Amino acid sequence: MEKIIDGEKLNIPEHVAIIMDGNGRWAKKRLMPRNFGHKAGAKTVEQICEDAHDLGIKYLTVYAFSTENWKRSVEEVTGIMNLLRNYLVDCIERASKNNMRVRIIGDRTALDKDIVEKIEELEEKTAYCDGLNFTIALNYGGRDEIRRAVTKIAEDTRSGKLLESNIDESLISSYLDTRNMPDPDLLIRTSGELRLSNYLIWQLAYTEFYFTDVLWPDFSIKDLEDAIRYFNGRDRRYGGVK
Ligand code: FPP
Repeated sequence: MEKIIDGEKLNIPEHVAIIMDGNGRWAKKRLMPRNFGHKAGAKTVEQICEDAHDLGIKYLTVYAFSTENWKRSVEEVTGIMNLLRNYLVDCIERASKNNMRVRIIGDRTALDKDIVEKIEELEEKTAYCDGLNFTIALNYGGRDEIRRAVTKIAEDTRSGKLLESNIDESLISSYLDTRNMPDPDLLIRTSGELRLSNYLIWQLAYTEFYFTDVLWPDFSIKDLEDAIRYFNGRDRRYGGVK
């Protein structure tokens, strides 16, 4: 899809993935606790969903909590989980109003029961929305996702449901949490860090990466447009020659 932004015709990436980093530093700069930064970050998520939809992005996938984030203090983990609780509840109303389909990826087995119930309700109630496909990675790790997929493939092969000769790349993709979603075209990481941090490691194989020093709570539509402009300057060859 193409869109005119500031007089320039730009190709809009279909799927944008974001590592929302820098909430802690944003709070620290204001002499506030880290959870103050996460709260501001959650507000930014809401705004960016609207902006992404307005720009014509079809899929937006954000990293909210990694399988490694449990190592943070109990206070911070509880704060993030409570934010997510509130977000999931508010989202049930907002998402159907905005026609936004919400999905959660990651391992749900370690999440509190009430959070899992809210996730199920949200996914069910927005399953028929055909606006923005918004995905939240929660207790997500790329290696863990691949581990879970491999375990399931082994089970299905053992039970005869799957033939070993049918295991190709697209079959593996169909066992990942992101099944039925295209791979991201553009990855954005905020706050100046140049790492993948175990995010969508299978799906990002041919994705363009955009890094910005902006801290996540300050990220705005202007920054999203800058990332799209950068994306337009890239020459995607998928391993071939043009
Ligand atoms: C990274 O910043 C941010 C996180 C690990 C949590 C992200 C969570 C939210 C934005 C809020 C909830 C999300 C949704 C979808 C409502 P950091 O804490 O690592 O920052 P730092 O690197 O500056 O310490």
